[in-house]
Amino acid sequence: MKNILITGALGQLGSEIALALRAIYSNQNVVLVDIRNDINKQLIIDGPFYISDCRDREKIIQIVKKHNIDTIIHLAAILSARGEMDPPHAWDININGLTTILEIAKEFNCSLFTPSSIGAFGSSTPKDNTPQVTIQRPSSIYGITKVAGELLCDYYYNKYNVDTRGVRFPGLISYLTPPGGGTTDYAIEIFYEALRNKRYVCPIQADTYMDMLYISDAVQAVIDLMNADPNKLKHRNAYNITAMSFSPRMIANEIKKHIPEFEIVYEIDPVKQRIADSWPNKLDDSEAREQWGYNPVYDLEKMVYDMLDKISRRLCCA
Ligand code: NAD
Ligand code: SER
Repeated sequence: MKNILITGALGQLGSEIALALRAIYSNQNVVLVDIRNDINKQLIIDGPFYISDCRDREKIIQIVKKHNIDTIIHLAAILSARGEMDPPHAWDININGLTTILEIAKEFNCSLFTPSSIGAFGSSTPKDNTPQVTIQRPSSIYGITKVAGELLCDYYYNKYNVDTRGVRFPGLISYLTPPGGGTTDYAIEIFYEALRNKRYVCPIQADTYMDMLYISDAVQAVIDLMNADPNKLKHRNAYNITAMSFSPRMIANEIKKHIPEFEIVYEIDPVKQRIADSWPNKLDDSEAREQWGYNPVYDLEKMVYDMLDKISRRLCCA
């Protein structure tokens, strides 16, 4: 990685990857693209930024040529809960966006990271220790686009030798940029409500388990996978990765250790609950650990401590 382009760069994950990569490779060498510019102003000021749709082939090619891009981190996407509001739009962005970027990666010989998700699994997938290679019959439009995206990455690697790499991210927990409309967003919202109101109305049932990952571990995973020896990678679509599996009841109990008055109540969102019920409880990420040294640092206890610390500082300075 020398000259890197990030699409969807102002989103929850993109903003954190942009910061980390600019710290390593310099501001000028990490070029950001998004369809909005109303958030994360510092990132826009600090280095190259373009408003562009990832489906706009000509504009993205111009940017790739101008900055001599060799690596694309393609993050522009519509997430699971938002996808259910307008499935054709989710398909358009997630699939036509990815195929545009894959074609550009092929033409300009770029390496490409693009994430899949726990959303690529469905109710017929084994729920516990979900294997790397297993049944993938998701029921959400988001999941359908993620499975198709995994297959496209395999196809471009096998047919054109494009250096595609990816992971199946679990729910990402972070505090810099708000989440973009996922089923796992509750695990972020709960911290703001706990600190502001000492009460959270949770849209997911108390005992629904999902995999989660703290943002610094997610960013490190992207960097490690992109720097991994290609000969060691057996999968070119997406590696299972996780760091913790918990339910709303468990995260609430962990928060109560710091804020004893905190209470959680439940008002179930049927769309999010249906999606959550179809996802695994806990992935098996042993292939990522063995093949490229994936090794997350944060468990539930450490993550809750850090989130409360960081968000309380932000709220008190706001
Ligand atoms: P996000 O919604 O926070 O950010 C997506 C960004 O893409 C936004 O800034 C949005 O403005 C931009 N965007 C949307 N359409 C675009 C287009 N047509 N052209 C250019 N930019 C566009 O999402 P995120 O959480 O940062 O997710 C990034 C990637 O990681 C996605 O592929 C997502 O599926 C995947 N992922 C995220 C999570 C998670 O928990 N956040 C979990 C699994 C996988
Ligand atoms: N966190 C994401 C979502 O809920 C998982 O891909 O959509």
